[in-house]
Amino acid sequence: MKTIFSGIQPSGTLTLGNYLGAMKHFVDLQEDNHCYFCIVDEHAITVPQDRLKLRENIKSLAALYVASGIDPEKSTLFIQSEVSAHTQLGWMLQCVSYIGELERMTQFKDKSKGSAEAVSSGLLTYPPLMAADILLYKTDIVPVGEDQKQHLELTRNLAQRFNNKYNDIFTVPEVRIPKVGARIMSLQDPTRKMSKSDENQKSYISMLDDGKRIEKKIKSAVTDSEGIVKYDKENKAGISNLLNIYSSCTGESVEELERKYEGKGYGEFKQDVADAVKSVLLPIKERYDELIDSEELDLVLDNGADRANREAEKMLRKAKKAMGLGRVRKKK
Ligand code: TYM
Repeated sequence: MKTIFSGIQPSGTLTLGNYLGAMKHFVDLQEDNHCYFCIVDEHAITVPQDRLKLRENIKSLAALYVASGIDPEKSTLFIQSEVSAHTQLGWMLQCVSYIGELERMTQFKDKSKGSAEAVSSGLLTYPPLMAADILLYKTDIVPVGEDQKQHLELTRNLAQRFNNKYNDIFTVPEVRIPKVGARIMSLQDPTRKMSKSDENQKSYISMLDDGKRIEKKIKSAVTDSEGIVKYDKENKAGISNLLNIYSSCTGESVEELERKYEGKGYGEFKQDVADAVKSVLLPIKERYDELIDSEELDLVLDNGADRANREAEKMLRKAKKAMGLGRVRKKK
């Protein structure tokens, strides 16, 4: 049995990309593993957040986890800020990280474009906090989408650096990226990743969109004028993205789908992509609507925080001892 850890930011309603790249795989993993799934609210505040909206997003993400199939009996579901060991170890790992390596993170470079004044220092030091999230739980495997690969490499480096310098206490985790669905692209600009922070709402499908909206967005997805359903990321980025989405939703391979749509136009193909997405997302939305105002959710999060705190405190103590923080109490 392996230990799994992953996190999602509560920075807006999740997209189909978050689901197909990450959440969907969490559900499969929980059957045979020891799983922790986290609502990483302390990561979300690296960019400005409205206080009330953030609270709402945290609750909403918890409901989405459960509605997608995370079973609180099998997995530990919790909010990062309710387990203070995360920021404590995060600080210690910041002191082990180099500014140069943090500045090289692609996400930092992307998000900090524009005015340097308005970029929080948290945006730069976010990867050591992410490393702390993972390392606190002796994590073996971290399932994430493609965009987190670089952060995972840094996590491995920090773990090894700490182990060599202080004491060999951290498990060096493996990253797990799905074969299909690891990078779902924007429906309006298929050279960019689908993102919940995109200003153009037509560019992403939210996990809580209703059937009509899903259909509308897929039908207005940018494609090309060739009229051939074929996977070609370079020249047919839009169709390739839709093929990926379709394949991740139904489990049919891209090759099977290419054969299925031979000689057929984009109209029929897009309709079927929309149906495939609806068949995945609409049952989740239905369960979400039942859960969002229920007391069940608070209980789940209370239990999750208790369990996570117990585990995380043990590792934090070891890390403090390794670095020489605090005191050693003499036994009488
Ligand atoms: P976040 O909140 O941006 O995204 C959550 C998960 O969704 C994946 N993802 C995608 N997958 C496919 N296509 C897309 N267009 C797409 N967009 C997002 C992400 O790869 C991720 O797996 N830093 C992390 C959160 C985090 C974390 C952690 C993850 C904090 N601590 C510890 C793992 C372990 C983030 O910002 O993810």
